[in-house]
Amino acid sequence: MEVVIVKDAKAGGELIADGIAGLLRRKPDALLGVATGSTPLPIYDALTARVRDGSVDASRARIAQLDEYVGLPAGHPESYRSTVLRQVVEPLGLSADQFMGPDGSAEDVQAACEAYDKALAEAGGVDLQILGIGTDGHIGFNEPCSSLASRTRIKTLTEQTRVDNARFFDDIEQVPHHVITQGIGTILEARHLVLLATGEGKAEAVAQTVEGPVAALVPASALQLHPHATVVVDEAAASKLK
Ligand code: F6R
Repeated sequence: MEVVIVKDAKAGGELIADGIAGLLRRKPDALLGVATGSTPLPIYDALTARVRDGSVDASRARIAQLDEYVGLPAGHPESYRSTVLRQVVEPLGLSADQFMGPDGSAEDVQAACEAYDKALAEAGGVDLQILGIGTDGHIGFNEPCSSLASRTRIKTLTEQTRVDNARFFDDIEQVPHHVITQGIGTILEARHLVLLATGEGKAEAVAQTVEGPVAALVPASALQLHPHATVVVDEAAASKLK
C-alpha cells in the first residue's frame, strides 16, 4: 500500500485526477469506479477541468457506481445514480449508456446485486476504483464486521452513517436504512484502488486502515491485501499516522 500525504483536499483531487488522466491515455475506455459523498468532489472537479481544457480525453471512459440507496424513487436527487450523473457523468460530457450502477429500486434486490457483480465482470472489471472512507472505517457501504470476501449485496446502514449522511437530506428520517454496496471482495477485484481521506474526522479511521491489523472491524484495512492500493490523505487526515 502506498500512502501519499498532500497539503489539502484540492491537492489530493489534483493528484488523483492526474493518475486518472494517465490511465485514460493508456486505456481510453477505462472503467472508473466512483464513490459518492463529499470527499471525492475535488477529484471530479479536477478531472472535469482537465476535460474542459482539452488536456484529457475522457470521451470513451466508462463509469461504475460503488453503491446505491435502496428504496429511493427513481430520479430522486439524492439517489447515488442521480448524484453520479450530476457530479461525474454529465460534467465529463459522457452519456448515460457509459454509466452503470446497481438497481436500488428493483423488486428483487438480491437479484439486482448479483446482476451488478456480473455486469462489472462482463465490462472487463474496474480499472481504477475511487474510494472514500467512513469515520468508522467503512468503504462503499461495507460497515464494520462486513466479510472481507463479501460480494455486492444489501446492507443495513449503521446509525452513525445515517447521521453522517443526513446532511444530504432534509432530515434524518429521509435517509434510507438499506443500501446496495459492492462487497469488499468485489472492490478488491479492481485493478487499482485509490482511497482519498481528508479532514481530522477521518484521522483515526486512516490510522487503523494503514497501520492497524487487517480486520473486518475496519473494512478499509482490506486495502492492505491489494497489490495496487494508494491512500491519499491530507495533513489533517494523516495526523494520527505514526
Ligand atoms: C459512498 C461511499 C462511502 C463514502 C464515505 C465517506 O459512495 O463510498 O463509503 O465514501 O461514507 O463519505 P464522505 O466522503 O462524505 O465523508
